[in-house]
Amino acid sequence: MNAPADLAEVIASAPDPTMGYRSFTLGGFSFRRDEYFAHIGWRTQDGRPLSHTMDIGHFLRALMRDVAWGFFYGGVNFDHVVGTTNHYKTVDLYAGTYNGTMKAAGVDRLENFPTEQIAATFAQMLDDWTNEGFDPFAAPQETGSPYGRKRGHNKPAITRARELAKRCVGLKDDLPLRTDARGAPVNRAFADVPQEQPELHPEPGFEHEVHAFNLFGFLSRSPVTWNPSFTSVVKYSFMCPTTEEHILPIIHANDRVEWFFQMSDEIHWDCADKTTGRPLARVIMKAGDMAAMPAYCRHQGYSPKRSMLLVWENGSPSLVYEIQKGESPEVPVKF
Ligand code: PHB
Ligand code: FE
Repeated sequence: MNAPADLAEVIASAPDPTMGYRSFTLGGFSFRRDEYFAHIGWRTQDGRPLSHTMDIGHFLRALMRDVAWGFFYGGVNFDHVVGTTNHYKTVDLYAGTYNGTMKAAGVDRLENFPTEQIAATFAQMLDDWTNEGFDPFAAPQETGSPYGRKRGHNKPAITRARELAKRCVGLKDDLPLRTDARGAPVNRAFADVPQEQPELHPEPGFEHEVHAFNLFGFLSRSPVTWNPSFTSVVKYSFMCPTTEEHILPIIHANDRVEWFFQMSDEIHWDCADKTTGRPLARVIMKAGDMAAMPAYCRHQGYSPKRSMLLVWENGSPSLVYEIQKGESPEVPVKF
C-alpha cells in the first residue's frame, strides 16, 4: 500500500542568493518576496500567467492573522484580489475570484487545499519572510520595519498562543488576568484606564462559579492589535474583545452574522458585498455604538487611535450550513 501523501509537505526554493528569502509553491500559486513586496503568481482559467503585488508589511500582517486564527470564519481577503475561504476541513486559496471585475474578465483562480497543507505552507512563509524586529501583530508605531533583505527571524512574535478563555478570564484553571508581572503593561494609549478589579462575594461553594473582572483593564494591557481573544464563552457565544490601531490587515468576508460593540474611541468600517467587492456602506462607530455585520458582507476597519472593540461571534459549527440552506438568516433582524 502506498504511504498517504504528506499533507504538511511544503514546496519551497532554496534562499535567494541576493534577497535571502525562499519562494513557495502551493498548487498553481507561487509566492515570492523581495525587499518591499510579496509577489503572488497564478495561471488564469485559460492558462495565461498573471501576477499580483502587495506591500510586504501588509501581506505579512494579513498572513499572520490567517495563520494564527486557523483561517478564521469564512473569508480572509488579504486585499481586493488574494485571500482564503475556510471550509473548516479544507481551505480555498483564490486570486480575483471575489473581485467582480477580475472574475468577469476570467483572470481569476481558485484552488481548494486540505487545511494542513495550506497551513504548513503559510506558517513557513510567515517565518521565512518575517525579519527580526518586525511584529506583524503590533501597531505600526510599536514595531520595526518589515522591509529589506533577510535579517534574522521573529519566531516569538509569530508563534504567540491565541488567548482563548474556556469559560471566563480569571476563573480557576482558565486564562489569567494580564498584569505587569506577567509582562503585560498598560499600553501608552490607555494610561487613564482604571485598573481596579470588581469585588466578588460568592456564597461558599460558588467561588469558582460566580465571577467578574475588569474588561477595560484587561484590554488596556493587550500588546497586539486586531487579534480578538476569547474572554468569555457560553456554549457557542464567544465574547472576542480586541484592541485596534491602524488598519484591520484583512477584509473579513462573513459566513455568519457578527456583532461589534465599540467600547472606546472610534473605528471607521468599509462594508462591501462579499462576492463582488461592490461597496455597501461606511459605518462610523464611536464609543458605545453597536453594529451587526450581515453574513453577506465583507468589512475592513480603520482605527485612528488605539481603541477597544468587542466582537461577538456565534461559533456554532453548523451555522454556516444552516445559512446556506436558508434555515438561519443572514441578518440579525428584519424591519
Ligand atoms: C472582523 O473581521 O470582524 C475582525 C477581525 C479582527 C478584529 C476585529 C474584527 O480585531
Ligand atoms: Fe468580521
